[in-house]
Amino acid sequence: MKVALLGDTHGNADHIAHALDVFESLGLKTIIQVGDLGVWPGHVAGKMWNKVDESLAARGMSMFVAPGNHEDYDRIARLKVRDDGWLRFRDHILLAPRGHRTLLGGRSIVWLGGAASLDRTWRNHAHKMGYGAGKSWWAGEALTDADVEQTAAGGHAEIMVAHNAPDGVPTIEVSITGNPHEFLQEDIAYAEADRRRFTEAFHAVKPRLLLHGHYHVPVDETVDFGPFATHVFGLACDDEPKSMGVLDLDTLATAFIE
Ligand SMILES: [Fe+2]
Ligand SMILES: [Fe+2]
Repeated sequence: MKVALLGDTHGNADHIAHALDVFESLGLKTIIQVGDLGVWPGHVAGKMWNKVDESLAARGMSMFVAPGNHEDYDRIARLKVRDDGWLRFRDHILLAPRGHRTLLGGRSIVWLGGAASLDRTWRNHAHKMGYGAGKSWWAGEALTDADVEQTAAGGHAEIMVAHNAPDGVPTIEVSITGNPHEFLQEDIAYAEADRRRFTEAFHAVKPRLLLHGHYHVPVDETVDFGPFATHVFGLACDDEPKSMGVLDLDTLATAFIE
């Protein structure tokens, strides 16, 4: 069984429509999305997601999401929890609560969305000064100790679907070294503390495969974490190259869609 992989979409309707066309052409019906989906407040975003949902339904597709940091967590907190534990965003777009466990194609999967925004202060400043596009930062983005404990309590899973990635992935470490976007030190400390929590949960799960987004750089490497090794597959964002991929659940092989 093969499934589609989709990087951060940030509510980019044109890109999402294009991705659905690509996945349909490849015969892929199930989409795993790794967060920063674009759960924005307001009716414009709501109408956009209604259209995406209609398009998914027409193609017989479903999208399963580990939410990111740039999402309206007030809205997520109000979503109906289905009997199977998924949060219903739309009929064909389901969001995973943190630590959610599923089986897909015979593979055990744990879902751990969320991350801390490195631009938290800028987003809040713009919002409070009235020159931002409205609220765009939510405290619910960050992992809590309870999230970590719940995820760790479930033990090993073959696949982890997350927005963030743990400390110690060489491609990611290179991409953030030297603070190229000049984030504020207090926000870097906030993000590092959140990533330590994520890393703790990750080490408890010891997945064979990690699927993630957030860093907006493609990652495709097997990392030795000491007691275990994990193939880390990170997707780029929006319409950047390597923002889409395929996972073969029979073999756990991953490939970018070029
Ligand atoms: Fe993100
Ligand atoms: Fe993102």
